Amino acid sequence: MANPSDPTRRDFLAQIAGVGAVLGPGGEMLARTASVNPTLPPRPGPPQQAPLPTRPIPGTAETLPIVGLGSSKPVLEIPTEGTDPLAAVIRVLLEHGGRVVDTSPRTPEIDAEFSKVLTAPEFRDRLFVTMKINTNGEAVGVEQMRQNQMLVGRRTLDLLQVESLRDLDTHWPNVLGWKESGEARHIGVTVSNNRQHDRFEAVMRSEPLDFVQINYSVMEPQAEDRLLPLAQDLGMAVLINRPFMNGSYFGRVSGRTLPEWASEFDCATWAQFSLKYILAHPAVTCVLTETTNPEHMEDNVAAGFGRLPDEAMKRRMRQFVAGF
Ligand SMILES: NC(=O)c1ccc[n+]([C@@H]2O[C@H](COP(=O)([O-])OP(=O)(O)OC[C@H]3O[C@@H](n4cnc5c(N)ncnc54)[C@H](OP(=O)(O)O)[C@@H]3O)[C@@H](O)[C@H]2O)c1
Repeated sequence: MANPSDPTRRDFLAQIAGVGAVLGPGGEMLARTASVNPTLPPRPGPPQQAPLPTRPIPGTAETLPIVGLGSSKPVLEIPTEGTDPLAAVIRVLLEHGGRVVDTSPRTPEIDAEFSKVLTAPEFRDRLFVTMKINTNGEAVGVEQMRQNQMLVGRRTLDLLQVESLRDLDTHWPNVLGWKESGEARHIGVTVSNNRQHDRFEAVMRSEPLDFVQINYSVMEPQAEDRLLPLAQDLGMAVLINRPFMNGSYFGRVSGRTLPEWASEFDCATWAQFSLKYILAHPAVTCVLTETTNPEHMEDNVAAGFGRLPDEAMKRRMRQFVAGF
């Protein structure tokens, strides 16, 4: 099975820690005296001791953990649910070594609350926050840049993206300028709709992008035809959105049994089925999973561990869900 991140050793260390074994001074495995029930089923969540595997941002010495949070739903729910659910999912992500949180500008009221979370001592300086401009017009684009800086409470953004190529020609000269001035460490563009892929490809070929964010999943695999190989060729980091097609994936797999062969790539849930499909692509740097539920975050993080499907298995996975 292919596994570009090769977390095997870390998994092993985590597993022996989980079953009560310790390493001796020479690296030999010593059994702990505490009794371990060998009949207990494995936990469905991620290994408790291992941090998420990471992948490099091409052309830099920086790496990112391979599972992140798409924050749209918990952020938009702040007016009704408060910030606790959002803080809870970020906490789970961090506990497992995750760092990437994708954001979009929202209303000033929502962003003021969101900012309190991102700048709280337990989170600030620990996250890689990806931000966007998602409006028409230069003046409003500049305003959104300032709003982004307020959201994270610092001048320098980790990544600034123009969302869905919206008014790209207007915003792009400023985005390039903010990279030049050090206000954005990385810059990029996003797409979440197959209909925009041709235009997206043209932008990838013409602009100096550090990152691209693309829709891709086992039920929406079109990006692997051209966009993902192109990103690899051009040395661009790749974030993936819509891993669950904004939730409609779960509607389609609902009531279906996970195939037995999913265990061949350490997949225990339908969420992991799509995430492992995505992570098996070598162009992918990090997949953004959106959730309001800490248990779902655990489930999604777990997809970052263990084996990944190879090409033959990926074909089988596509065919399996095609009829759903
Ligand atoms: N143009 C753009 O730039 C663009 C467009 C779309 C999305 N995005 C980014 O990509 C992120 C993710 O994409 P998406 O918005 O399409 O969402 P998604 O991650 O494809 O799906 C989210 C839905 O899946 C559910 N879910 C998540 N994990 C689950 C699990 N383990 N088990 C069961 N249900 C689960 C969530 O419900 P629960 O809350 O109940 O878990 C939510 O309803 C967004 O937040 C955003 O950051 C960017």
